[in-house]
Amino acid sequence: MNVRACSLALLITTALSGCDDQIKRVPIFKTMSWQSSVEAFEEEPRTRVSGTMPIDGARTYDLLMADSVLTSPIGGTESELARGAELFQQFCTPCHGSLGAGDGSVVGPNRIPDIPLLNLRSVLTRSYSDGYLWGMITNGRGLMPSYRRIPAHERWYIVAYLRQLQDDAVAAGEIPPLDAPAINGGAP
Ligand code: HEC
Repeated sequence: MNVRACSLALLITTALSGCDDQIKRVPIFKTMSWQSSVEAFEEEPRTRVSGTMPIDGARTYDLLMADSVLTSPIGGTESELARGAELFQQFCTPCHGSLGAGDGSVVGPNRIPDIPLLNLRSVLTRSYSDGYLWGMITNGRGLMPSYRRIPAHERWYIVAYLRQLQDDAVAAGEIPPLDAPAINGGAP
């Protein structure tokens, strides 16, 4: 076997065995294995210098906190709603459906269970505060992942778009308008 075939064989053995140590026997990989990097958990996490802020130090809000203290900082202009719609299509439709009715392509038998909470055009979801909806997007819950990767201010555009979807649901007669009299008209 020539050198190339030999190192290929060693590479394959290493890949198959998944053993990190074998790779140190290959001269050109030695330097990578023996470099003076810090391995995971080898060092104490660095502590923040007092009086400074980490550059990604945006405050985090759990659902309860977001619900109780946050209000939407945006007015819902046309361009904000358009961006909200774009983000919704990008991140939310697989589960919640293209119009938020809970009929996404990954919902169904052997997939995400078809639960009523997936329908964002419902009376229940409409009853939540803007902060709550933002908190859901931020933190996720159960089978829903967190969407912190969407910048915090852009999550408000999605909230505005959710409100628009709920208004559409009212217009389509799916849910009653907010000022509709209660069922039975409150009669005893
Ligand atoms: C992987 C599937 C999945 C994706 C993608 C997803 N969700 Fe969800 N979402 C869920 C599930 C499942 C629930 C119900 C959570 C529970 O059971 O607590 C939920 C619940 C919610 C709720 C709460 C509804 C209620 O009435 O309690 C909101 C609001 C929501 N999602 C918004 C969004 C938005 C906005 C996006 C996109 C940024 C998104 N979700 C993306 C699966 C998903």
